[in-house]
Amino acid sequence: MGDPESLNPAGDGRIMTEVKSIAVIGAGTMGGGIALTAAMSGINAFQVDINSEQLDRAKAYHAKTLARSVEKQRMTQADADAATKRITYVTDMSASSAADWAVEAATEHVEVKKKLFQAMRAAYRDDVVLATNTSSISITDLASAVGDAASRVIGMHFFNPVPVMKLVEVIKGLATAEDVTARTIALAERMGKTAIPANDRAGFVSNRVLMPMINEAFYAWMDGVAEPEAIDEIMKLGCNFPMGPLRLADFIGLDVCHDIMMVLHRELGQDKYFPCPLLRQLVTAGRLGDKTKRGVYAY
Ligand code: CAA
Repeated sequence: MGDPESLNPAGDGRIMTEVKSIAVIGAGTMGGGIALTAAMSGINAFQVDINSEQLDRAKAYHAKTLARSVEKQRMTQADADAATKRITYVTDMSASSAADWAVEAATEHVEVKKKLFQAMRAAYRDDVVLATNTSSISITDLASAVGDAASRVIGMHFFNPVPVMKLVEVIKGLATAEDVTARTIALAERMGKTAIPANDRAGFVSNRVLMPMINEAFYAWMDGVAEPEAIDEIMKLGCNFPMGPLRLADFIGLDVCHDIMMVLHRELGQDKYFPCPLLRQLVTAGRLGDKTKRGVYAY
């Protein structure tokens, strides 16, 4: 831990509070992973969710992952206990108002997120960065919900599973201040990640490239080029993917893949981004992947 206060990296002389605690809004897969990764990096985390059952699931995931890390000798029991103590689970955002940083990781609905951003603006101090883990919603659009706090809004896009994946894609909205970008990169690095900035265009870089590839794998299956197992094995063995694109689609959620393609289609205005009919059909049938125990594959 360094000084509690440090000079603004933008060099404009403003004094900023060091990030000792972050509030993670949403305790789903991504929010749970972000809070755990912060705690494992020595940062206190408020895990915020209005749903107490979701908080219980996040808590169980934290306990299981920390126990696994001790078992694998990646950390000592004392460090795991310290990480556990750093996480506070709260159902009311106001109970996290002492946080020095906020990351929203709620469901991917623009209106839900805009309401949350307004609540975050009211709940936290005026120097607190208001970050979002959105995978495809425009940062500029979310920032429009918080008036002159728009300069503090930024994308901090983690990848699933958060404790394992090395990247944080940092997305600057039109109004995002330079120092906010620099502070976001610094925080991501403290969390053990490599932070790479990108601009605010639909899908940013990761999903602009990944999702059309996944969509194309559905076309390859639909057109009878090969069965899903063969498509995935070809991409694993031939292109060194850890998971084939169809297995990855199940892991991400077919509904999420579908919705991101719809965002690309709407915002970039090209037919090539329209979701494959077979992907649409599986989503309509409720076959959403791992979370419904059936997607491309049965689990
Ligand atoms: N939380 C914490 N740790 C986890 C984990 C989780 N959810 N899942 C796996 N791990 C750990 C395991 O504990 C294991 O470590 P140990 O063996 O030391 O215990 C390690 O990761 C490897 O796991 P496994 O042996 O179970 O399996 P694997 O080697 O096949 O790896 C994987 C699993 C890391 C998920 C790997 O298959 C992978 O990298 N897949 C691709 C994931 C990917 O592309 N993610 C990005 C999705 S896109 C996204 O998130 C953004 C978006 O906007 C849609």
